[in-house]
Amino acid sequence: MPNIAVLPGDCIGPEIMNAALEIFKAAQQVTNTNYTIQSYPFGGAAIDAVGEPLPASTLAGAKAADAVLLAAIGGPKWNDAKERPEAGLLKIRKSLNLFANIRPTKITPGMVQYSPLKPDIAKNTDFVIVRELTSGIYFGQPRRLGTADAVDTSHYTEAEIKRILEVAFTMAQSRQKHVTVLDKANVLATSKLWRQVAATVAPNYPDVTMDFEYVDAAAMKIVSNPTQFDVIATSNLFGDILSDEAAAITGSIGTIPSESRGIAGPNLYEPIHGSAPDIAGKGIANPIAMINSVVMMLTNTFHDTQTAGVIQNALNQTIEAGTLTPDFGGNATTTSMTTAIIKAIEATK
Ligand code: NAI
Ligand code: MG
Repeated sequence: MPNIAVLPGDCIGPEIMNAALEIFKAAQQVTNTNYTIQSYPFGGAAIDAVGEPLPASTLAGAKAADAVLLAAIGGPKWNDAKERPEAGLLKIRKSLNLFANIRPTKITPGMVQYSPLKPDIAKNTDFVIVRELTSGIYFGQPRRLGTADAVDTSHYTEAEIKRILEVAFTMAQSRQKHVTVLDKANVLATSKLWRQVAATVAPNYPDVTMDFEYVDAAAMKIVSNPTQFDVIATSNLFGDILSDEAAAITGSIGTIPSESRGIAGPNLYEPIHGSAPDIAGKGIANPIAMINSVVMMLTNTFHDTQTAGVIQNALNQTIEAGTLTPDFGGNATTTSMTTAIIKAIEATK
């Protein structure tokens, strides 16, 4: 039986996790599937319980699972803790070797009106950024901060580039079959190597087309012509910047899920937003990003497009009916939105 390690975390984390799991359970009843869910303390909740953000038992449970589902961690309560909740996040990413960060940007018909882009430009936007997460300029050595100068080093190996491109090409095969590699090959040596490696990887995916674009031009196109993209593959630094730009065009960070993929072992799925301490306990947290994280997990790890589809359709219906939380100007609560989605799921039985 598929086995999922669930890390609810802090503040709105448990609120949106409970919502998403109730919805997931309702969908399993429709598709006659059965997932084992085991919850573990993580982040501030784990600091309170056992004095550290990533207890050994939590890490062991995560490693043994087929997928890890995380809500969010952190909050002012632990700002002065000797180890902060966020340290647990870095540790689990490192322990699971999560080298690929995948962020979809999708504007469904019901969401077009919330985009800061003109409706004609925003509509049908559906692309994924595959960002390299464990190398590049954020990790390269030497790194030195002097007073008269400073050094950062951008470093990529062929193997690091190859494995992230393979993730991108494989993902493209189940989408629109196009990969755009974003780089600065007119200036950077690492970008030139990305292009060389891409030229050797692409022939292994004959059904996928590929092109290269300079990252600065692409940053412009993400807001002027977002529908031209399917899968974007890029380095750590460029991916960091572009994925925030991409999130902004959907109108709220409360909707976007992410996947972090390891070398072997489970992938980790989580909303891109944090624990939102300012609204914790008020019952108004937007559960959409958490629900979309479940859909992404079902699709990418378990290839259970049926259960994913049941949830996705019910969510889209609910959004289109205008049942939305205050971050979208609605007056739904987390609970009333969850109830509406479950009702839509049960109607498909
Ligand atoms: P945040 O994403 O938690 O919140 C930013 C703003 O967006 C807040 O006004 C919040 O109310 C709103 N917001 C976020 N998610 C929402 C949702 N689902 N529904 C409605 N509104 C939502 O970022 P912030 O405030 O910078 O960080 C808060 C805490 O979260 C910090 O302790 C930070 O370290 C942590 N954090 C954790 C992450 C994770 O668990 N992966 C990622 C980012 C931040
Ligand atoms: Mg960032």
